[in-house]
Amino acid sequence: MIQMNNVIKKYPNGVVATNGITIDIRQGEFVYVVGPSGAGKSTFIKLMYREEKATSGDVIVNGINLTTLKQSRIPKMRRQLGIVFQDFKLLPRLTVYENVAFAMEVIEEQPKKIRQRVLEVLELVGLKHKVRMLPSELSGGEQQRVAIARSIVNMPKVVIADEPTGNLDPETSWEIMNIFEEINARGTTIVMATHNREIVNTIRRRVIAIEGGMIARDEYGGDYGYEG
Ligand SMILES: Nc1ncnc2c1ncn2[C@@H]1O[C@H](COP(=O)(O)OP(=O)(O)OP(=O)(O)O)[C@@H](O)[C@H]1O
Ligand SMILES: [Mg+2]
Repeated sequence: MIQMNNVIKKYPNGVVATNGITIDIRQGEFVYVVGPSGAGKSTFIKLMYREEKATSGDVIVNGINLTTLKQSRIPKMRRQLGIVFQDFKLLPRLTVYENVAFAMEVIEEQPKKIRQRVLEVLELVGLKHKVRMLPSELSGGEQQRVAIARSIVNMPKVVIADEPTGNLDPETSWEIMNIFEEINARGTTIVMATHNREIVNTIRRRVIAIEGGMIARDEYGGDYGYEG
């Protein structure tokens, strides 16, 4: 589902953020990406949706080689992915309902199907009662739930998240994790970069540790593994 073969990403300023990464993530897996600040986690995640393009090596997602993918085909490729950010990235002038529906409108789904599916995913994340609210009227945890609902509304095979609980308090972070667990239980692959030691050590999943742009550890049921 996600394969990388000796992937190197060198930024224009000369920083080598990933220095020969080879991995294989299979359908249905739940993967934490851990490692010190500046290790290359976000770069690794960004390579998966072509926010960054590999300098060399192949990145293959859902059978598509992102390294050779034409710029013009990126939007279509991204529609197959769910992407969740630390800072939610909701559209501030749209309601909860509209933020989620928008993701289906851009792929021109039928209005009837949009209504049904949007309410279904908002129910899954526990926000059906706040459909008319604006993002500014929600707590951080609620905003992240809207972002997750949006990320899964088109039924992607994989959800990619960069520190999705990074701006949230511990209790809210657990609620968000429960939602990811539920999504994963339904068959969706989850890849999330995180600094949350407690979560990684409690909900044991595959742990890919990155240090200095390289895979330092790749362990099923592994722990977080860093001090402090
Ligand atoms: N757009 C960019 N241009 C140049 N250098 C960059 C860019 N983005 C990241 N870097 C550098 O690449 C390295 C890896 O950064 P990255 O953001 O992938 O780390 P990270 O593991 O996500 O860190 P954190 O835990 O702090 O989020 C760092 O040295 C960073 O300064
Ligand atoms: Mg990062």
